[in-house]
Amino acid sequence: MTDIKKEIAVAIAKATNFKENEIYGYIETPKDTNNGDYAFPCFKLAKIMKKSPVQIAEEIKEKIIVDEEKILKIDIAGGYLNFYMNKNILTEEVLKKIDNEEEYGKSIELKNKNIVIDYSSPNIAKPFHIGHLKTTVIGGALYNIYKYLGYNVTGVNHLGDYGTQFGKLIEGYKLWGSEYDLSQDPIDKLADIYKRINELCKEDEKVLDNCRENFKLLEQGDEYCTQLWQEFKDLSIKEFQRIYDLLGSKFDSWNGEAFYADKTDEVIEILKNTGKLQESEGAMIVDLSDKGIDTPCIICKSNGSTIYATRDLAAILYRARTYDFDKCLYVTSYEQNLHFKQVFEVAKLLGLDEKYTNGLEHVPYGFVRLSTGRMSTRLGNFVKVEDLLNDAINQAKKIIEEKNPNLENKEEIAKKVGIGAVIFNDLATSRIKDEIFDIDAMLNFQGETGPYIQYTYVRTNSVLEKAKSKPKFEDIDTELLQDEYSQNIIKIIYNFEDILNQVIEKSEPSILARYLIDLSKAYSNFYNENKIICDDENLQNARVFLTYAVGKVLKDGAKLLGMQMPEKM
Ligand code: ARG
Repeated sequence: MTDIKKEIAVAIAKATNFKENEIYGYIETPKDTNNGDYAFPCFKLAKIMKKSPVQIAEEIKEKIIVDEEKILKIDIAGGYLNFYMNKNILTEEVLKKIDNEEEYGKSIELKNKNIVIDYSSPNIAKPFHIGHLKTTVIGGALYNIYKYLGYNVTGVNHLGDYGTQFGKLIEGYKLWGSEYDLSQDPIDKLADIYKRINELCKEDEKVLDNCRENFKLLEQGDEYCTQLWQEFKDLSIKEFQRIYDLLGSKFDSWNGEAFYADKTDEVIEILKNTGKLQESEGAMIVDLSDKGIDTPCIICKSNGSTIYATRDLAAILYRARTYDFDKCLYVTSYEQNLHFKQVFEVAKLLGLDEKYTNGLEHVPYGFVRLSTGRMSTRLGNFVKVEDLLNDAINQAKKIIEEKNPNLENKEEIAKKVGIGAVIFNDLATSRIKDEIFDIDAMLNFQGETGPYIQYTYVRTNSVLEKAKSKPKFEDIDTELLQDEYSQNIIKIIYNFEDILNQVIEKSEPSILARYLIDLSKAYSNFYNENKIICDDENLQNARVFLTYAVGKVLKDGAKLLGMQMPEKM
């Protein structure tokens, strides 16, 4: 399919001597079709060209050369250049492509670029909280989309399975382990042991010494300590896995912090050789004040143990060597902004090629708060993610039971709807915004929700069912799809690939989530305004084909977000 946006970018670049990539990034798709199909905001160039946006627009319009078969008209409005496309060419191209492709917009060409995505990464022996749900969902969506676009992607679950706290946990377990049955809810129990031992440490310095000793033993590979640690880890992963199974999350690597325990010496050695490693109150630090970061990065604590950041530095070395990454993304809450600023700055001292240090990117997201309604009163504020997910499934089941009691496979559909609602909710707003977790709102079939998208998809299915069969592309007359509602859909579908590229460029899956809402709304309008099943066979065929196209894009798009579509609901 010709990429008209790209062609416009090339033409403007030629007319202005700007870089095509830069121009491409500025081109907008106006919401109101009266402003054309694509618009170029000339004020973006005003500063450098030292001219007014209107002057620039006039100049470009004068010089630009475009394919007049495809672009019928260019006009100037308020400092914008608006481009109007030949609707029929576009309609034909879009629908032909949909008909030919297994998965619409999927790249067959490999990009030869390696992307590492570090996401989910919960801490063992601690609850998997609602923030971990968000990284799991955002990271998973980015993973799918990179892959779809032909990148080589490695998903890493960087488990928090190391650190001095395990010395404490081991001590607590030695003291009170026999009081707990870890075969049931092990994480709650380990968390309880951890709380108790922390309190005891505050009272009794000797206990704290024992904890430190345990951690040392663990570092040295002591059999008893290692065995306990392994058990805590196995029990935790087993609990996490139940959540991953519900969400459909998969990882290529589970190398967590412990994996890097024997790889931090090299980091310290390299940093020592740079002369930037300083002693400060017994600890070893890298001062970053000249980089505009006031808090130094601690590399070794005064007792010699490494910290979270040291292991992240070792992980950067390892990932550069093992995956030769072009990009390495870290999806965590914005509470870790400082941590990643420090780590990325110190990473520049490790002697790595700039390709790697330039490829490091923190992808922060906002807080998730539980709505003050039903959920929090019933489950308390420290809800378990697994309970939330099951609650969403049960709520979905109730709604389905009311709306469509005779449906087959209600259980399976409720799971798709309930989980789909949660996943979509985590992706629907731009990631940095704080979010309210409200199960009733996210299950509203009429709201801007996952179930709304699923419902629209199901609607396209029933239209196809009524029509008996999907017409062949060759048999439809695309001239019959020139009305406003059909064209609106065509344009949205045409933008799909561009949307996916925007998602990875900004690490922002909400762009795809919004897109699916826009497409669903456009289809609802089309459905309400146009009679699809009608006496005019040609018209019916064209409209049914468009319906099929909408369903396909909704399904492929939702799958990229990690949502599954029910065929009926
Ligand atoms: N375990 C951390 C947490 O739960 C997240 C780890 C993120 N990844 C990393 N490489 N630091 O907050």
